[in-house]
Amino acid sequence: MTMQVGLKVWRFNSRTGERELQEFEIAAPEEATLLDCLDIVKDQHDGTLAYRKSCRMMICGSCGMRMDGAAVLACKMRMYDIAQAGHVPVISAMGNLPIVKDLVVDMDPFWEKFNSVNPYLQPGYEEPPDGKENLITQERMNVIHKEALCINCGCCVSECNAMEADPLFTGPQALAKAMRFVGDPRDGQKLARLEKLNGEHGIWECTRCYFCTERCPKGVDPRDAIAKLGAESMKEGIDRDMGAKHAKWFVTSARTTGWLRETELVPKTQGVVAAIKQTRFALDLALKGKVPPPFPPHVAKDVKESRRLYDLVRDQGRDGYAGIVQGERALGRLSHGHGVGDQTLEEIYDRPGAYHRPFIADEEADA
Ligand code: SF4
Ligand code: SF4
Ligand code: FES
Repeated sequence: MTMQVGLKVWRFNSRTGERELQEFEIAAPEEATLLDCLDIVKDQHDGTLAYRKSCRMMICGSCGMRMDGAAVLACKMRMYDIAQAGHVPVISAMGNLPIVKDLVVDMDPFWEKFNSVNPYLQPGYEEPPDGKENLITQERMNVIHKEALCINCGCCVSECNAMEADPLFTGPQALAKAMRFVGDPRDGQKLARLEKLNGEHGIWECTRCYFCTERCPKGVDPRDAIAKLGAESMKEGIDRDMGAKHAKWFVTSARTTGWLRETELVPKTQGVVAAIKQTRFALDLALKGKVPPPFPPHVAKDVKESRRLYDLVRDQGRDGYAGIVQGERALGRLSHGHGVGDQTLEEIYDRPGAYHRPFIADEEADA
């Protein structure tokens, strides 16, 4: 059984800088993926179309590209529903990486960042007394379970808006990889790694937009990895960055008053001098009723609840990355285009907060 599939593909010639949106109409098997469709285009319509592929089964990470503006693995993307809805998706190269030709991007900046986090184990453990295997408990491995699933496809990097603002930002893939080794009990360089990751272009540049987590085709959840790196840094006393100070103040404020005391956020995060420089701005905000008076501090009626929560987390030792491990839940969200357990695909997509991206049947993507 075949189906008719329409595709609009952004072609790009890096020598001339020319861009052109080219439309194709092809006949493809009903089970075809986006990658299968591109193969048909290349074989039967235009042999000059450039894209990457290798494994065709979501393992090698070669076929990252954008469909309707969101990164996908072409070999994971089934086309049946899209074709049935009469939708013609727009296919383009991944974002945040220079385009070489059509859908092929230059991965050198990606690999440079990958290498910058020393993505290999630097052993720092004692030999087991029996000289045999160094066994790690499942509980400990859960800390890095998701991070170990990365296939280096670049879909997260493509969508990272912090990287758009600062191309030198280490980025979601490299940071997820860094967490894979920071959280490995066999690694001997945890503190050195955290020190480096807290520097310029490091973990605190992340804007927490969660696009990396949304687009990762393997459930790695890079934003979660970055949160773990931040929490573990603060547990180890590495908190000199403004981002760390900001996060600390949130905790202090919630614990002491049950509210976020925004008026004190700037001096606590950026320091007194920076706060004084912003006095005029603060006064303007105050005149418009946007800044509550700092004194007396507003204390929530049920502040004891907030303090109990803080004590509970502390007493259970859930500081550092131990407070953020949620690997199994994230893996449970990974559908691979079919249902998970008893849940159908429809039930998964219809849950609150789930998105059909990149394909949205009711809305045509802007060409
Ligand atoms: S959550 Fe952070 S790392 Fe992930 S895409 Fe957004 S800015 Fe980038
Ligand atoms: S974290 Fe996910 S999206 Fe990013 S490179 Fe790894 S597998 Fe791809
Ligand atoms: S071709 Fe290997 S991941 Fe798609």
